[in-house]
Amino acid sequence: MVAKISSSLLPDNTTIHEDGMVAFAGIRADDLAKEYGTPLFVYDEAHIRQRCREAVQAFPDGVSYATKAFLCKAMARLAYEEGMGLDVATIGEAFVAIEAGVPAAKLTMHGNNKSYEELQYAMENGIGKIVIDSFDEIAKIEQLFSNGGSPIQALIRITPGVEAHTHEYISTGEEDSKFGFTVSTGLAEKAIDKASNLKAIELIGIHAHIGSQVFTQESFRKSTETLADLSNSFSLPELSVGGGLGVPYLNNETSISISEWGAIVGKVCEDRGVTARVTAEPGRSIVGSAAVTLYTVGTIKKLDGIRTYVAVDGGMHDNPRPALYGSGYETFLARSAASARQMPVTLVGKHCESGDVLVRDGAVPEDITVGDLLATPVTGAYGQSMGSNYNKVLRPAVVFVNSGQAELVVRREELTDLLNTDMG
Ligand code: LLP
Repeated sequence: MVAKISSSLLPDNTTIHEDGMVAFAGIRADDLAKEYGTPLFVYDEAHIRQRCREAVQAFPDGVSYATKAFLCKAMARLAYEEGMGLDVATIGEAFVAIEAGVPAAKLTMHGNNKSYEELQYAMENGIGKIVIDSFDEIAKIEQLFSNGGSPIQALIRITPGVEAHTHEYISTGEEDSKFGFTVSTGLAEKAIDKASNLKAIELIGIHAHIGSQVFTQESFRKSTETLADLSNSFSLPELSVGGGLGVPYLNNETSISISEWGAIVGKVCEDRGVTARVTAEPGRSIVGSAAVTLYTVGTIKKLDGIRTYVAVDGGMHDNPRPALYGSGYETFLARSAASARQMPVTLVGKHCESGDVLVRDGAVPEDITVGDLLATPVTGAYGQSMGSNYNKVLRPAVVFVNSGQAELVVRREELTDLLNTDMG
């Protein structure tokens, strides 16, 4: 017997109707499924706005939303309206943000291997800042500048040599990393010196991002200490601590809040006498728990003494995280959201491989049946954004719900979308 789904994993404005059906911002899950079909990403807009506001308060000198976590035009506009800048990691993310109406000056461009095209796009469109990741990138910027490009404001990404204690694929702050300039080997200082002496670059600060889904407060502290010392010794105006704050995915997990993270960073900077503005760029902690994915159960296989498989109409194309990182999720039946879950199940998708698992160790009420609506919470970050068309599956729709209203912000793909780029 597994306890009912913890309300702390659900979007802020989740309620349960008398008949047991879960509702998001006042709209019943079954009505959403009827209107928009499944699989469906449902985002609680007020929840996202609250997290943006919390971030703006926690980092009053400036905070950007890391769009890689989830990006569509509505999301870009929302973060901008709430006073955030936008962190973009490719020309594609920059393009979507600009198309949404976000001024280019509010964007920060990342990337460990920015192309000429991306750097030129940043210069030509007046992207606010870029975060420099390599000496080759500096050379590319010089070349573009000497060909008539405009100078660009930049931070240098440093590698502080800090273990983030997260999955190795999303850990980025240790010395053996493809990202940034290592501090301990003196490369970071060299890069700062080099960039400060170029007409092509207006060096405004340093940046570090130690990884994602980080729960260890000590890692944030250590990384900020390294940044603070380096920032003080060069007297640069900005110090960015990146993103990375972890969020709970399972009933028994807890994490610190965005405000608490801001306080940890603020305290280190205060103790070290930092005068630079202190900025950050959270992604997951803004949108992760704002969304649930709704699926329809298609088949249930009880393998006696082995396992029960519940297969739904989605899979690794809408959430590749379990397959990629072994990430754990919860699941619950939309029509009995407040019930205990007696039956252990493995929730799988419809793809042609056994790794297509959405929830390895799930549990559902015993009366689950084909046609039921299942929900997986905390799917707001790195699900839709890492989705694919594997097996030529159509990507799900995304709706924003707010005060009883649903807005379709990304429509479901149609079969003809599969041929958009096919030159056949
Ligand atoms: N800043 C930089 C430079 C980053 O590379 C990232 C994430 C962020 C900020 C935002 O980090 P967040 O606050 O969201 O943790 N696909 C993986 C996560 C990859 C994160 C990549 N960089 C996952 O699904 O867990």
